[in-house]
Amino acid sequence: MATTTSHSGLADGAGARRRRGNAGSRGLITRSPDETEAAAARLARHVRLGDLVLLIGQMGAGKTTFVRGLARGMGASGDVMSPTFQLVRIYPGPIVLAHVDLYRVADSRDLADLGLDELLDQGAVVVEWGDRLPAADAVRVALVVLDRDRRRLIIEEAPSSWSW
Ligand SMILES: Nc1ncnc2c1ncn2[C@@H]1O[C@H](COP(=O)(O)OP(=O)(O)O)[C@@H](O)[C@H]1O
Ligand SMILES: [Mg+2]
Repeated sequence: MATTTSHSGLADGAGARRRRGNAGSRGLITRSPDETEAAAARLARHVRLGDLVLLIGQMGAGKTTFVRGLARGMGASGDVMSPTFQLVRIYPGPIVLAHVDLYRVADSRDLADLGLDELLDQGAVVVEWGDRLPAADAVRVALVVLDRDRRRLIIEEAPSSWSW
């Protein structure tokens, strides 16, 4: 990332909790898949070469929906689907977006096979089940299921310029 604010090792400390508490510019409630996609498309303006975006949230939270919006906002081409059987899908664009899904990744050997450093050299990377990736220098976005159609999206870790 070009600028960072929160890689002090206090990822889930007082700062992160404070940001979650005052929803402010870092929290957002969406009321449909389209709203989640649109929010991600807007967030895409912040994404730079070498950025690693980790998506954290349960099954059905909207991670793949979010990636669809992120790719659209980045001007990427290609249909966004869960790369469940491929581990990584690549969407070409002004900045290449690599879409990783760690749902089926069982151990650190598979993580090594990802070639994450190479992907980050060539573009930006967004990761579903991103909490399974031990990465210090990453943007973290949490998606929380509120009810059938509402999700709370929270930018948990990112350069201070990032907002919805
Ligand atoms: N506000 C919302 N944002 C995103 N998805 C939503 C929302 N409300 C309902 N949904 C539904 O939740 C599901 C999200 O699926 P998906 O994006 O594949 O989640 P994940 O990748 O986290 O498993 C879809 O069926 C979608 O229609
Ligand atoms: Mg998914």
